[in-house]
Amino acid sequence: MSKSKKLVVGNWKMNPLTYKEAEDLYLSIWDGVGKCKNVNVAITVPLVFLRGLSLIKKSNVSLGAQDCFPGEIGPFTGAVSVRMIKELGVQFVIIGHSERRAMGDSDQLINEKIKSALLNNLKVVVCVGESIRDESGDYLNFIKNQLITDLSKVKRNLLKNLMVAYEPVWAIGKDALRPAVPEDAVEVAIFIKKVISEIFGRAVGIKVPVIYGGSVDPKNCGNYLHDGVINGFLVGRASLSSEKFLEIIKITDEI
Ligand code: PGA
Repeated sequence: MSKSKKLVVGNWKMNPLTYKEAEDLYLSIWDGVGKCKNVNVAITVPLVFLRGLSLIKKSNVSLGAQDCFPGEIGPFTGAVSVRMIKELGVQFVIIGHSERRAMGDSDQLINEKIKSALLNNLKVVVCVGESIRDESGDYLNFIKNQLITDLSKVKRNLLKNLMVAYEPVWAIGKDALRPAVPEDAVEVAIFIKKVISEIFGRAVGIKVPVIYGGSVDPKNCGNYLHDGVINGFLVGRASLSSEKFLEIIKITDEI
C-alpha cells in the first residue's frame, strides 16, 4: 500500500458464512478495483478465510485481520498471535474496533497489540471513537485518552505503519443513530492529528492517515472527502456488497 493514496478498508466482521461466498466476494471486488489510481484497497476478513484468500494473491486488494494477540506463542486459548497472522502473508490488522472493545479489550491490551503488530511490520488501523456525543465536548477528551493509552510507548520510528480510524460507536452498524455529519468527522480527524502531534511531534501528527468509519455508503462517502482531511474509510456493511463497496472506492478515487 503506498502512503500518499487514500485508503478504503472493508471490514467483513463475522461474514460471510462460507469460504465459497468469501472467495466470490473477494474476486468480484478485485475485478472491479482494477483501474483505480488514487486509492489503496484492503479488506479484513475472518481469520479462517485468510489463508485461502491470501493464496489467490490479488495484489491490488490487500488482506488484513480484524484483531490479533500480542506476541508469538503461549497459553492463550482461542487467541491468534501477531506472528501467526504474519505467517498468513497478510499486510495489516485492525486493532481496537469498538466491537472488540465491547468484548473486553482494554486500552492497555490494545496498546500491547499495537506495539506487537508494529514491531512485526504489520500495518495497523487503530479504531477510536466515543459512544456518546455530548454537548460539552467531553467526547474529545475520551478520544484523546484512548489515543494516549493506545499509543503509549509506541516507538516513533514505527509510526509510519500506523493509521487511525475515527469510528463513533453510535454511527456503526444497522442500529446506528445516523452516520457522523461530515463536518463533525473532519473536526475529530483534525483533533486526532493534533493529539498525535502532541505525543509524537508535529511531523508525525501531520502525516498520520485518519479514516472515517460508521455507516459509510456510496451516497454519503463523497461528503467526507472534500476538505482533504479524511484519508479514506473503514466500511462495514457496505463492504459485503461488491457493488456498493466498488462504488465507494470509485467515488474515493475520483475526489
Ligand atoms: P458499518 O460498520 O459501516 O456497518 O457501520 C463500520 C465498522 O464497524 O467498521
